This record gives sequence, C-alpha cells and structure tokens, in this order.
Amino acid sequence: MMSLFEQQWQTYRTVLEHDSMEHRAIADATASVLRSWFEQGGEQARSAVLVDLGCGDLAHLAPLFRSLPLRSYTGLDLAASVLLLAERQMGQVRFPCHWIRGDLLDWAKEQVDGPVDLIHSAFAIHHLSDSDKVRFLEGARRRIADDGLLVWTDVFQEEHESRARYLERYVSRVQHWPGLSSRQRDAVVEHMYQCDWPARRGWIESVASDSGWMLTWSWLGQHQAEALALLRPLPSATSNGLNHVSINELGRLPLRKDDLTF
Ligand SMILES: C[S@@+](CC[C@H](N)C(=O)[O-])C[C@H]1O[C@@H](n2cnc3c(N)ncnc32)[C@H](O)[C@@H]1O
Repeated sequence: MMSLFEQQWQTYRTVLEHDSMEHRAIADATASVLRSWFEQGGEQARSAVLVDLGCGDLAHLAPLFRSLPLRSYTGLDLAASVLLLAERQMGQVRFPCHWIRGDLLDWAKEQVDGPVDLIHSAFAIHHLSDSDKVRFLEGARRRIADDGLLVWTDVFQEEHESRARYLERYVSRVQHWPGLSSRQRDAVVEHMYQCDWPARRGWIESVASDSGWMLTWSWLGQHQAEALALLRPLPSATSNGLNHVSINELGRLPLRKDDLTF
C-alpha cells in the first residue's frame, strides 16, 4: 500500500515547514542526545554504525547526520521514492551510506552478525500494532551493541487515554494546522484513523524494560503526543534471560481495548 508520505508528499512538507509536529525542537533534542552519546563514548562511539528506520526524506536531520563521526549510515524506508530524496538531502559525506527499501520490523527480526551502535527512528514505529512494537523492541535489542542507543521519536498516548480520545485530541490540532487545504486536512485525519497506533507511555516503558532496555524520556512536546524516548540496552545477562517478554506472554500485558490485533 502506498504510504501517506508518498501520496501526500506536499502535505507532509507543509506540516514540516510550519513546524506543526515540532520537528525543529525534535531536531535540536536529537542533536543533543547523539552528540552527548559520542562525547561520552569510547572507541566504538568514534566510528559508530547508525541505522535510521523510517528515515523519510531526511529534510530536517541530514545536516545533523552529516556532522557525526559515523562509520556508516543506513536509511531504511518502506517507500522507495523517499529514499531517493533522502540520498539527495544527505549529499556528499565522509562515510558510506546505504539506502534500503524495507520494513523496519523485518529489519529488527533479521539475524545478522555484527551489532549496530545507534538506531534512530522518527514517526514510524507508531504504525506498528502493539504486538509488533514488542517484537520490534525485542529484535532491535538483539541487533544493538551493549553500549548502543536507540533514539525513538514518535507520537505517544497518555497512559490512561483511549486511542479514540487521543485521536480526537490530535484531530482537533490538525484542524488548526496552518497552510493545509481542507482536503489535505481530511487526508491527514483519514491516515491517522487508519494507520496511527501510538504506544501508551507507561505501557511502552514496561515493554522496553521486559525486552532488555532502559527507557527514559529525553524530550516531551507541548501537546502530550510528540516525544523522544531514549532506550539504552540493559546488560546482556538480563536482556537474554527470563526477563524477556515472549510474544506468547502478551496476554498478560495491559493492552488497550481497541488494539487492532487483539
Ligand atoms: C511521518 S514519516 C517520518 C519521516 C522522517 N523520519 C521524519 O521524521 O520526518 C514516516 C516514514 O516512515 C516510513 N514507514 C512507515 N512505516 C514503516 C515501516 N514499517 N518500515 C519502514 N518504514 C516505514 C514511511 O514510509 C515514512 O517515510
């Protein structure tokens, strides 16, 4: 299925230009967490392998990634057309870039040798169902180095808020977003109802911990929706042991009533 990103390219550009989803503050927060990770790191941080899941067109983060001392950058996205734009935005860099058309959940589930140091994902993981978010965090934990970092920007729900209430709140924001025609607003709203499944904040903290991560909130936006979560791997003994949530145990997790897959 063609994504909103492909179908409504101009719409997303307008949302970014008007900063309606706080991309500027997010770019600053992302720069700050990545730079401090590099400052604190040892040998490995000086030549980090970074994977950007759901990279989009890199309109706001290309300058940051260009400035980092990376060993390699991989941009992965479902939409082939945005990868071409991302490659152009990135331009000439000192490190090799790889562009992969693929699904971020498949990436997390792949069994490969050699961990990655940094995983970045912005506004993509909320398209996964809750059970797939669990699978994603388990898989990403397997693929990251023990001293790596997962930088996850996304929309999140308040813990005790239903999806219906969250959508109602967000849609009323969209109605006031500048620069969009009513048709474009309708397309955004339709996309949200079909595709957006933001994680509840408390729930994802507990899933992260059971999947071998320590999650902290590095930045919270103004609207109780956009936020930046930092996930640091817990020591391997815990992450590979019985503390892992198995997908079969999901029934015991406090899933929301209106989750698609349950
Ligand atoms: C809202 S855009 C965000 C783009 C960019 N990360 C940003 O913050 O501006 C979401 C991007 O994630 C991609 N995407 C959505 N679901 C995905 C999946 N399961 N695997 C890979 N990419 C996905 C879309 O194609 C789109 O480019």
